[in-house]
Amino acid sequence: MRVLVTGAAGFIGSHILEAARGLGYEVRGFDSLTPAVHDGMPAYIPDDTDMVVADVRDAGAVTRALDGVDVVCHQAALVGLGVDLSDLPGYCDVNITGTATLLNAMGQAGVQRLVLASSMVVYGEGAYDCARHGRVRPAPRARDDLAAGQFEPRCPQCGEALVTATVTEDAAMDPRNAYAASKLAQEHLAATWARLTGGRSVALRYHNVYGPRMPRDTPYSGVAAIFRSALEKGAAPQVFEDGRQQRDFVHVTDVAAANLLALAATEEGSQVPAGSAHSYNVASGHPHTVGEMAAALAGEFGGGLMPEVTGNFRLGDVRHIVASPAAAEQGLGFRARVGFSEGIAEFARAPLREPARVPATLS
Ligand code: UD1
Repeated sequence: MRVLVTGAAGFIGSHILEAARGLGYEVRGFDSLTPAVHDGMPAYIPDDTDMVVADVRDAGAVTRALDGVDVVCHQAALVGLGVDLSDLPGYCDVNITGTATLLNAMGQAGVQRLVLASSMVVYGEGAYDCARHGRVRPAPRARDDLAAGQFEPRCPQCGEALVTATVTEDAAMDPRNAYAASKLAQEHLAATWARLTGGRSVALRYHNVYGPRMPRDTPYSGVAAIFRSALEKGAAPQVFEDGRQQRDFVHVTDVAAANLLALAATEEGSQVPAGSAHSYNVASGHPHTVGEMAAALAGEFGGGLMPEVTGNFRLGDVRHIVASPAAAEQGLGFRARVGFSEGIAEFARAPLREPARVPATLS
């Protein structure tokens, strides 16, 4: 089986590339090596890798890269959150137009199998239950509430406190930033492609991925890399809000394993019928608070620098988002293997990806 992995030089893509090669697949990588992210080909990509250096928006390059390919694993994307309005065109261009270009080329080339990197951000806030009103959807938290230390969302109907529940794949979609909107659009495009071509698509909604090669401290880094970078510099991790916000930290090798299972699920006669698109949470199923993660990481650095819970906040952050991994287990046979303590202990020492030295013209 020949797999094309887009974004193969990146944090998650490179682990998929490695895992797929380990299974004996013929793997072709595809990556733009964008100078804002990469300083040339990363050293962790083996020299004998069949790697195409091009942009997913380049239809000609994508078509050439699809030659002989059976299945595409699409990881290439502009990541992060998108902080203001000026970010919209960039996310739409790279993530939406790039995916549309890829899907069109796949249709022309007769490639009928797709695995797509999606994200938990398509849900917005996690799931919440009110004692009186059942499952509710709280609105984005107001600046005044956050500034007053009122971090928990409240019932939109009665204003009472809520209980956090696990998000399942049938939850309402509520993308709240440019990145989230572009990830949801990718899922919709993949479903359209599947219907039009009789293709099979699996979208994997990643939760908070961490592990070796995670990009070091940049505005687009996840919190685990930010804390690890701070500790290395001898600074205490700065924990926002009250540190009790929950996330599901899932190890990158588990995410790679989920991708391999999803690739297999798109085979003819497997779980995903022709013409359909499935979506699955990729999570450990064992949520932790951001404060716990900071403490665990600080402990691995000897415990001399304990996290500081600052009460600061980022408007637009969601409070809790924890997922049910049940559908991925049932549909793909996926179950995360790396436990939190073990994963964080390894992550404290793992090599991270250095930020690129962005040329002045691009900075
Ligand atoms: C992150 C990603 C998002 C991705 C998702 C799933 C970023 C910026 N966000 O969302 O793109 O789709 O995971 O993989 O890459 N925090 C601190 N201190 C800090 C930084 C953050 O306490 O210095 C807190 C935040 O307030 C938040 C939590 O940590 O409560 C998680 O933040 P972050 O890692 O940015 O992730 P998500 O918003 O969960």
